[in-house]
Amino acid sequence: MTKLFGCLPGRVRVVEVGPRDGLQNQEQIVPVETKAEWVARLARAGLPEIEVTSFVHPKWVPQLADAPALFAMLPRDTPALFSALVPNRKGLDLALASGVRRIALFTAASETFAQKNINCSIEESFDRFREVFDAIAGSDVHVRAYLSTAFGCPYEGAVEPRRVAELSRRLFEAGAREIAISDTTGVASPAGVEEVVEQAAALIPRAAIALHFHDTRGLAAANVLVGLQLGITTFDASGGGLGGCPFAPGAAGNLATEDLVHLLHALGIETGIDLNAVVGANLWFETHFAAPFPGRVLAVHRRNRRA
Ligand code: HMG
Ligand code: MG
Repeated sequence: MTKLFGCLPGRVRVVEVGPRDGLQNQEQIVPVETKAEWVARLARAGLPEIEVTSFVHPKWVPQLADAPALFAMLPRDTPALFSALVPNRKGLDLALASGVRRIALFTAASETFAQKNINCSIEESFDRFREVFDAIAGSDVHVRAYLSTAFGCPYEGAVEPRRVAELSRRLFEAGAREIAISDTTGVASPAGVEEVVEQAAALIPRAAIALHFHDTRGLAAANVLVGLQLGITTFDASGGGLGGCPFAPGAAGNLATEDLVHLLHALGIETGIDLNAVVGANLWFETHFAAPFPGRVLAVHRRNRRA
């Protein structure tokens, strides 16, 4: 291996967030049977963890109001782990009642986005999380936490890396096993990723850091590469490149899962994922929508199928 790529991790865990991050930002409401079939196909393709939905207020995210029904329809004969986004104690109770054992909390590094997204301040979000951690104390419920607007906020602009690191530390010390440092509107740059990750890694274990890039400006793959060079081994992605937050103006899709897996495999990094099966699952799912998905690898296969 060369000087620049010799130190990359040998294996990476890809967290599929399409059924949650992707579908929350689609106007159309997908029937629950179709969602369940998509998740099953993604699980069969070897995705180790799939965030399948969220337990938030159905008035704000009607696309995911079928969360309990979806959880009941998920395949049981798979090693894939299924998780759900949870904002507070009420969401936790609903999730636990649906059999969820992996939850993802979410807050932000900027106050205005926290207010727009979860209707409370960052400090209040930590109060809500305390109630969640108290309720699951001593249980086997696995908690990840997202820190949104970590590389910049659509309302406030620049965000201090020091602040991101400090909030990551607080989330980790509160009990989150993994912190998904998130570029909500795709404003991160490779240099910014280095700064944020290095500051966070000074306060929490590097292995507890996941990176969640939206690809609004086309830099998500470049940002992943920097993350890999910094020793990060968990990256989020969304099937077909769907995604975005309804409360973040200008947010586009996440890095497409098949584009991320293609990059990782091209670098000789193992994922345990069958790229062709992911492409097949996402081309199948795409037929339920009016417009093609934005992912680049999908576009290649779509053209090849037509030829
Ligand atoms: P709130 O209004 O502050 O909550 O909402 P509240 O405690 O004041 O309660 C008000 C009402 O909501 C009550 O009902 C509660 O029962 C109900 P009422 O008594 O009026 O009938 N309620 C709930 N209902 C269902 N599920 C719940 C729940 N909690 C309270 N969990 C809340 C706070 C967070 C719930 C609300 O603002 C909300 O649902 N927001 C949606 C947030 C969201 O889903 N955003 C998108 C996902 S985040 C994201 O995409 C970013 C990420 O991808 C990383 C990145 O890219 O940056 C993760
Ligand atoms: Mg997101």
